[in-house]
Amino acid sequence: IKRPMLTEQEKQEITDELRHAELPEAAAIEALRVVQKRRGWVSDASQRDIAVQLGMTPAELDAVATFYSFIFRKPVGRHVITLCDSMVCWSLGHDDLYKLVSEKLGIAYGGTTTDNRFTLLPASCLGACDRAPAMMVDDELYGPVDTERIDEILKKYL
Ligand code: FES
Repeated sequence: IKRPMLTEQEKQEITDELRHAELPEAAAIEALRVVQKRRGWVSDASQRDIAVQLGMTPAELDAVATFYSFIFRKPVGRHVITLCDSMVCWSLGHDDLYKLVSEKLGIAYGGTTTDNRFTLLPASCLGACDRAPAMMVDDELYGPVDTERIDEILKKYL
């Protein structure tokens, strides 16, 4: 028997999300976020429990989690930097920004700094194309980000 991963409070919050959603799928993202908010990321075991509660198969839920780039399926650092890796940002400096950030932090996409301060991830369009190249740190959106701004931004997340 596998031990349940989710706490009573997490289960309750997921039940509340389910009550508001017309289809279990619509509650899936919110349910994943409930768990991520407390744990920082969503393990396979947590995902399995969420699927049971939503009445979905783990594979169906995994498809949702994988599609949605802000659900983390592996442990992440204290802050998550996401760089927009879509068309407009490509044409307006994504590559330079990526090079700059990855050199400064010494990590590539998917990596976490040795002090566990930052994880760097790509994301599809952040909905800020008029501010390209755009990036987010946790829930905060920044753009356009250039060489000078990047130091100022990273300093905020000590
Ligand atoms: Fe980067 Fe839209 S393409 S924010």
